[in-house]
Amino acid sequence: MTWAPYGPHWRKARKIYLTELFTPKRLDSFEYIRVEERRTFLSGLYAQRGKPVVIKNHIRRYTLSSISRVVLSDKFFSDHKTDTSLVSISEFHEMIDEWMVLNGVLNIGDWIPWLNVFDLQGYIKRMKILNDKFEVFHNYVIADHMAKKALAGKNFVPKDMVDVLLQFAEDETDPDVKLTIDAVKALVHDLMPGGTDTSGVTMEWAIHEVLRHPRVLAKLREEIDRVTGGERWVQEDDYPEMPYLEAVIKETLRLHPLSPLLAPHFAIEDCNVAGYDIAKGTVVLINTWSIGRLPDQWEDPYEFRPERFLQGPEIGMTGQDFRLLPFGSGRRKCPGYSLGLRLVRTTVANVFHGFNWKFPEGMKAEDICMVERYGLTTCPEVPASVIPEPRLPIHLYK
Ligand code: HEM
Repeated sequence: MTWAPYGPHWRKARKIYLTELFTPKRLDSFEYIRVEERRTFLSGLYAQRGKPVVIKNHIRRYTLSSISRVVLSDKFFSDHKTDTSLVSISEFHEMIDEWMVLNGVLNIGDWIPWLNVFDLQGYIKRMKILNDKFEVFHNYVIADHMAKKALAGKNFVPKDMVDVLLQFAEDETDPDVKLTIDAVKALVHDLMPGGTDTSGVTMEWAIHEVLRHPRVLAKLREEIDRVTGGERWVQEDDYPEMPYLEAVIKETLRLHPLSPLLAPHFAIEDCNVAGYDIAKGTVVLINTWSIGRLPDQWEDPYEFRPERFLQGPEIGMTGQDFRLLPFGSGRRKCPGYSLGLRLVRTTVANVFHGFNWKFPEGMKAEDICMVERYGLTTCPEVPASVIPEPRLPIHLYK
């Protein structure tokens, strides 16, 4: 969908996302999944107490499980390939990584079309191999969902996002656009890597920033302890009472927007934006990374200072204020932002609520990596490896 041109297919897909898949009611109905997966994640960190842990590895597994249960119900992958799982979790991560890389590369043949047949960089070959792997995965998932639906007959109730999409594929009432099975596969594909890496990388940046800034950690803890009383985990509905946590997330997204250039936008008519004439047909790249560092908009723009979001008029992060556009704005704005934020808020809060993080010998807070590895999404070059020490009553980790 991200690469789909504006038109009836995109409009239909977008409508399904907004009116069926990402409604507050639907997201609330999946909250128990997020709670279960979060507990597994936190228990996994507890099991590693006292040893250095690469948090990124735990986050990736957890976000993939959370999103895949919402989208597909079953995980369809496991630690090792078995009869009932299609791929191992590490193979699936590799597929997602390859997809992210290939989405972000500059293929010479796209700009000099006669060179395309030579596939000078080998990208087209890699895309075809990856496509074959995802095709097997999607075919299996869809066949499995269809078989379960046939078995349930009239009593069938959609359980996950694939079920909802397949219902639309059966709908013949829209004269303009038929949602084909191929389109369902594409939408499922958008949801899986689109939902997994995005939330995971945002969590990782927030954790890196807080680890580097003990002052911020102390204020965040104070807020969390006040809200939870130190006797329970932070829940999704706590966040209206946690303005400092919200400020930490905003500050993270200001400095580390997931897509520094958003997705390329395309002017479908002549227009004028902020005094600039933009001709129909122009491809527009919006540099959110630079916007987040503009010295005339942000005081000390390179400093990680969440307090800036607690002073003065509120700065929204979901497209209302053009200074902060981590999810884009307008028609092409991220449809999954609410799900993404629910995951990010509770995870970041609980990682610091549940554990003190010690640095391995010889390491200091300033050594936490802030160098960006550029791709379709931009993540820290070196993932943090730190030692968790539980700080809550033991029964909470079981
Ligand atoms: C913190 C988490 C997330 C961030 C920072 C994020 C960021 C973005 C950005 C920057 C865009 C491009 C917007 C533009 O070009 O104007 C986008 C589009 C999109 N995102 Fe997200 N996203 C997140 C979570 C999610 C989740 C959880 C899902 C789904 C499960 C999702 C699905 C999509 C889709 C389908 C699009 C394409 C929309 C279109 O082209 O109309 N995102 N996201």
